[in-house]
Amino acid sequence: MTQIPIMGDGLPQPLLEMLGAEFEVLPWDDAPDSPALARAEAVIAYGHPPVDGSLMDRAPQLKVISNHGVGVDHIDVAAALQRGIPVGNTPGCLDAATADMTMALMLATARNVVVGDKYARSPEFLHYDPAILIGQEVTGSKLGIIGMGRIGKQVAKRATGFDMQITYHNRHRDSEAESEYKAEYRSLDDLLAESDFVVLNCPLTPETTGLISGPQFEIMKSSAILINMARGPVVDPAALFTALSTGQIAAAGIDVTDPEPLPRGHELLTLENLIITPHLGSASNRTRERMMRMTVENLHAGLQGKPLPYSVDK
Ligand code: DGY
Repeated sequence: MTQIPIMGDGLPQPLLEMLGAEFEVLPWDDAPDSPALARAEAVIAYGHPPVDGSLMDRAPQLKVISNHGVGVDHIDVAAALQRGIPVGNTPGCLDAATADMTMALMLATARNVVVGDKYARSPEFLHYDPAILIGQEVTGSKLGIIGMGRIGKQVAKRATGFDMQITYHNRHRDSEAESEYKAEYRSLDDLLAESDFVVLNCPLTPETTGLISGPQFEIMKSSAILINMARGPVVDPAALFTALSTGQIAAAGIDVTDPEPLPRGHELLTLENLIITPHLGSASNRTRERMMRMTVENLHAGLQGKPLPYSVDK
């Protein structure tokens, strides 16, 4: 059987099994200089490899770029579309998992879960002490969601179960969020000033790069907790360090960093009022399965010259 050559880095076994024997997965190692690119008919972007115009120019057979994930800030979509190469992603399937993780970070930062775990394992824990590690109550607090897209709405849905008062900031007002979850629209500054928890669920774009920086931390409450589930560069890392180490805000939980991963020895890694997880937003078994299926569906459609079922249009 003649196999179809495709590029994909570090594809996991279940994805390789879904692809089947029909495909030859070429090594990505030296991309964008890999000689294998000359033969590649498709690219699976797995784990956010940069896919830019120069890589595309070295792959004249390329018929489709299929991204495993919804965010495509690592792909030059405009360059692909200019070259007539469709780009697919996996929207929708990861909203619930990412919203679950948003709640997990909110609860963990507010209630000292990580510091508490360390303490409970340490020899210092000798008896129950009602005076230690007293956190903030999530229930009934004010939640500000920046980015009221599909994931933001899933966060709002969960937050209603915690009786939270929800505000949001978004490019456009969202009638569904306002009617279903009683979310009230705010300017960015008003949202930052009012919220006990500020949650970032927006995509990384030129407009959202550095959205939360020194002046924004100055507006926030000193008791506020910031959760970043979006992309690292939405928050300025130096300003985040200042905010957390000088008490401008109380704590942060971040699933994404800038750069990612943070270099060992980075100043943010020294802070106890910061929880960092390694980009786990969509990392649940059911969601990973759906992401892989959608990635493969887009790949098949693109190779057959059909419209992609889940397409990124810009
Ligand atoms: C996404 O879908 O954008 C997540 O970051 C995982 O890739």
